[in-house]
Formats: sequence, C-alpha cells, structure tokens
Amino acid sequence: MTETQRNVILLGAPGAGKGTQAVRIAAGYAVPHISTGEMLRAAVAAGTEMGKAAQKIMESGALVPDEVVIGVVRDRLAQADAQKGFLLDGFPRTIEQAERLDAMLADGGRLVTHVILIDVPEDELVERLAGRRMCTSCGKGYHVVFDPPQSDGVCDVCGAELHQRSDDNEATVRSRLEVYRAQTEPLVGYYEHRGVLKTADGGGRTPDEVFVCVEQLLEGD
Ligand code: AP5
Repeated sequence: MTETQRNVILLGAPGAGKGTQAVRIAAGYAVPHISTGEMLRAAVAAGTEMGKAAQKIMESGALVPDEVVIGVVRDRLAQADAQKGFLLDGFPRTIEQAERLDAMLADGGRLVTHVILIDVPEDELVERLAGRRMCTSCGKGYHVVFDPPQSDGVCDVCGAELHQRSDDNEATVRSRLEVYRAQTEPLVGYYEHRGVLKTADGGGRTPDEVFVCVEQLLEGD
C-alpha cells in the first residue's frame, strides 16, 4: 500500500456493505472509520438531546437534519487522528452535506480523494438487512446466513447478546431504500463530475472478494 493520503467516502444503499468494508479499509490503510449512523446510534443509547431527537427519525427511515449531522462530522474531522486521512461511512447523504463537506475540507487545505460506490442489487440489499444482527456490546456485525456467529445469538468476539437494529424491519427498510434513491443517489453524479467516483461491484460476492476490488480502487489515482 502506498503512502498517499486517502480521504475516502464510502457510498452505497442501506445494506450495501459499507460498514463491512469500512472495517477492512480502516485496518488496511490506518485511517479512522467515521460512521454517522454509529455516532447517532451512540447518541441514542446515551440518551443525549441529539440522540432523543434523532431516534424517531432513524426509526422511520428518514434522514436526520443536515445541520445536526454536519456539526457532528465537522467536530470529528477536526480531531488529530483524521488529519492524515479518514474514511466516511454514511456521510454525505445529501447534496447539501456534500457541499458543506467540501467547504469544511477546503478550509484546512484538504479534499476528498476517493469516493467508492458499493453497488448491490435491491433484492440482495433487502435480504442482507433482514438477516443482519449486531452485538449489543462491541457492535460487531453478523448475518444469520452469510456471516453467522459460531454460537446462535452470541458475539464471537465478546460473548454478548446479538440484536436486530430497530430500523432493519421490513417497513423501515423500504423507506430507507426510497430515501436513498431520492436524496443520496444524486451524489453519484456529483462525485462523477469531479472525477473521484469509482464503483465496486458488491453483489453476489463475499466481503473479502469485494474488498479485493475496493483495494484496487483505493490504490488507483
Ligand atoms: P447508517 O447506519 O449509515 O445505515 P445505512 O446507510 O442504511 O447502512 P447500513 O448500516 O444499514 O448498511 P451497510 O451498507 O453499512 O451494510 P453492512 O456492512 O452493515 O444510518 C442509519 C440511519 O442514521 C439513517 O437511516 C439516518 O436516519 C441516520 N443517518 C446516518 N447518517 C446520516 C447522514 N449523513 N445524514 C442524515 N441522517 C443520517 O452489511 C449489511 C448486512 O449484509 C450485514 O449483515 C453484513 O454481514 C452483510 N454483508 C455485508 N457484505 C456482504 C457481502 N458481500 N455478502 C453477503 N453479506 C454481506
């Protein structure tokens, strides 16, 4: 792996495997994994004012207001570990967020170097989200069919119980996919126009196979 600085955005529909690939990228390239979904879920679990406001929105499948998420990302990108590269997972999700990200990076003389779109057919997305399970303690993700734990309902890493995310029910998944098509998919054109968008075929392949493709894209200019 080269020493080039990588300021990476992972783009893709709910269930495309952003979080799954992000763990591999963060380990392989020593960049912090910044997931707005995880930060919002942490705020919900902690019962902060932001968490209380975000909870209902997230359970409906809608997006949390731009101002809230932009503030969270701005603070996170200002931290020391994000100065030599970062990996954004789940942000930006609207054109407004993308423009504001560009502006905040430009202030520090930085820019987005890679946008990786993980492309997965819709029926596969639904199957992945329906079978996803998360560890209630360490947050590791599983799938009941594609990536099951060794012991049913128990995390391999820390032994805590697994649970289903509250937004992984059928109705909310449908709404999240609609929101993605309407509000987030326009970012494909936005980043294509800038010449930084690359697409990884994420359907019908194992996470490790998808990662081989992602690595090739990150090694390119
Ligand atoms: P967020 O947490 O970002 O959810 P998401 O974008 O819907 O993405 P997911 O986490 O559901 O999927 P993923 O692509 O990470 O897939 P994963 O790797 O887990 O956001 C949640 C909510 O927070 C939003 O709806 C919104 O309300 C709010 N929010 C967050 N960011 C926001 C923002 N910027 N602005 C406004 N609101 C925001 O994989 C899924 C499953 O598939 C797993 O079980 C996994 O094991 C399995 N899997 C992965 N890869 C493969 C493979 N190759 N083959 C087979 N199975 C696989």
